[in-house]
Amino acid sequence: MSFLVKHLPLFFTIFFLMFNSSIAIYNIKNYGANSDGKIDSSKAFMSAWGAACASTSPATIYIPQGSYLLKNAYFQGQTCKSKSITLRIDGTILAPSDYNINRDEENWIKFERVNGVSIYGGSLDGQATSLWACKTSSNNCPQGTMGLTFSNSSNINIIGLTSQNSQMFHILVDNCENVKLQGVKVSAPGNSPNTDGIHVQYSSRVTIMNSRIGTGDDCISIGPGTSNLWIENIACGPGHGISIGSLGWEVQEPGVQNVTVKTVTFTGTQNGLRVKTWARSSNAFVKDILFQHIVMTNVQNPIIIDQNYCPNNENCPHQGSGVKISDIKYRDIRGTSATEVAVKFDCSKKYPCSGISLEDVNLSYKNQPAEASCANAGGRAFGLEKPNSCL
Ligand SMILES: *[C@@H]1O[C@H](CO)[C@@H](O)[C@H](O)[C@H]1NC(C)=O
Ligand SMILES: *[C@@H]1O[C@H](CO)[C@@H](O)[C@H](O)[C@H]1NC(C)=O
Ligand SMILES: *[C@@H]1O[C@H](CO)[C@@H](O)[C@H](O)[C@H]1NC(C)=O
Repeated sequence: MSFLVKHLPLFFTIFFLMFNSSIAIYNIKNYGANSDGKIDSSKAFMSAWGAACASTSPATIYIPQGSYLLKNAYFQGQTCKSKSITLRIDGTILAPSDYNINRDEENWIKFERVNGVSIYGGSLDGQATSLWACKTSSNNCPQGTMGLTFSNSSNINIIGLTSQNSQMFHILVDNCENVKLQGVKVSAPGNSPNTDGIHVQYSSRVTIMNSRIGTGDDCISIGPGTSNLWIENIACGPGHGISIGSLGWEVQEPGVQNVTVKTVTFTGTQNGLRVKTWARSSNAFVKDILFQHIVMTNVQNPIIIDQNYCPNNENCPHQGSGVKISDIKYRDIRGTSATEVAVKFDCSKKYPCSGISLEDVNLSYKNQPAEASCANAGGRAFGLEKPNSCL
């Protein structure tokens, strides 16, 4: 007692330092979450979100160590009073391993119309092995859910999150503004279907940095309506590389503009830097793209623009791609190609690519200079040209 009284000011100081009085903390265990990984904690997550959302001050939802089974969660932010909600995750959040449980859902964890949400740390495990097995042996399986989605949201920070084995894309940024992803780790087997690492579309000012991504599909894919995207210091592989596209499926489609991809390593991937458009009519475009300081190790298509994308020759009635591609810079790209053609520009006959620039490219195939192939592509090469440029 006397100890407590004597040290009361100290306790207060510590208390204030640890829990700034203006930050409200919502521990999901206090809302009934179960950390054994077996009992569904969806209700607890929703209740904690409800409380944080209603808080008039910055709020933190705390997910302590342990495993939490979450059927699915849909966090709506439209009516939130709090201007800043942080999810501090020390534990692992598990999706149901039985894919029939979310058969009719498109999303596992979705944030919609939120502003000022941050996620620090944590692991998400989509437990999708049985769904992928189903997909490879039958065509009567559910499509699967997106792992973590942010939709119609702004001012989002995702730092130090691990996401593995998602049924579909691991992280989806859709219709968002000002999103930062840093120190993210995404992993799924190289043969898992449609498990893109991070997909960005209809969004502006998205930054993806210092992350490691290996999946069965694109490490990062960039959809229509993306602008001012910054990607830096990424290790990609296995997977299909970083892809702008597929674009130009719709006739009326917003373009992709001002994308920087810097300091990226691709290891054993199907593609490195890819731009891919459907061979269909469209008013979409791709412009002002910079790829810089890229290292390829054993990549099948290190540099590729493919405007004749039309799998199984279906739904592309021979009209060529309407997507206009211009001002794409490749600067300081080096390493090894797993195929002879390391640089391939297969552009639209109707709308040739323009302003393609290759500067200091050094890609080899089996210790020999590789080859480049161009169709309907215009631009220039500067500095080191290995393979010899066909522009
Ligand atoms: C999200 O934003 C888009 C574009 O602004 C809009 O068309 C759509 O209705 C919004 N969706 C929701 C659920 O708010
Ligand atoms: C391009 O995007 C970056 C962020 O990725 C931004 O800083 C820059 O101002 C943008 N440039 C233009 C011309 O909008
Ligand atoms: C190009 O790359 C090869 C193999 O990676 C290397 O041996 C060579 O020195 C490089 N050339 C230049 C001019 O940097």
